[in-house]
Amino acid sequence: MSRIAYVAGHYLPHAQAAVHIEDRGFQFADGVYEVIAVVGGRLVDEERHMVRLHRSLSELRMAPPMGDTALRVVLREVIRRNGVVNGIVYLQVTRGAAPRDHAFPKSARPTLVVTSRGSKPPNQRLVREGCSVITIPEIRWARCDIKSVALLGNVLGKQLAREAGAYEAWFVDHDGNVTEGTSTNAWIVTADGEVVTRKTDNAILSGVTRLAVLDLIHREGYRLSERPFSVDEAKRAREAFLTSTTAAVMPVVRIDDAAVANGNPGSLTEKLRVAYLGHAAATA
Ligand code: PDD
Repeated sequence: MSRIAYVAGHYLPHAQAAVHIEDRGFQFADGVYEVIAVVGGRLVDEERHMVRLHRSLSELRMAPPMGDTALRVVLREVIRRNGVVNGIVYLQVTRGAAPRDHAFPKSARPTLVVTSRGSKPPNQRLVREGCSVITIPEIRWARCDIKSVALLGNVLGKQLAREAGAYEAWFVDHDGNVTEGTSTNAWIVTADGEVVTRKTDNAILSGVTRLAVLDLIHREGYRLSERPFSVDEAKRAREAFLTSTTAAVMPVVRIDDAAVANGNPGSLTEKLRVAYLGHAAATA
């Protein structure tokens, strides 16, 4: 079955789906995106993704491409036309095509692209045994709270992780604190059992998975602190994990050359992972 994409008003086979060469997404990374998990053919945490999309658009003073009801129909139609039951749906909005000029164009229409693909759950060996992360200097811009398609720092970081045989790279700011991963949020559990993750500010993306896990932590009554943590603190932690739409809750058992605790996934991480999968299946 050929993959179908929605591009600026049309459903097209991927081979024919294209945007204008002067699309500002292509020339300036002047656009935003969302990656939403599809479980059992339905969207996980759709509401929170829509809220974040609108926030990203408004921070960039960009018009939505269409009303929310229509957008939700397009998302579902792309999922349906691709026969996706479990996977993701990707949506991207750019400021549109216009003669190249840095300032906003007067009359461009936003370009909406939606794709969807099936995917297997995250690598089960990594889920069982945990993954490793490397730490790298934070080189990204000062508005990582906006889910912009300008991901060059993230791309370079993920490539360094690949080359090091690691699953993810954690960015470290000038104070020695972990901000987040290249496509995931970062968490630790301290020696005395407190779950720690950085509070949302301009340095990190407010992950939808992060919000769902915070809800589960509150529901279960685990101790939580939303504050920065250093690489040293992470290496001394009892547990570490990361979260994202595609990785769900993934244990981290190695940070650079140090094993986290005894090098096995932690029990609290496992409880949160199972609870999160339940949430994803139930809310979808
Ligand atoms: N990445 N931080 C960054 C920099 C991200 O790109 C992502 C998501 C997250 C986690 O957000 P969420 O829980 O809403 O997926 C944190 C997506 C999946 C991606 O770029 O593919």
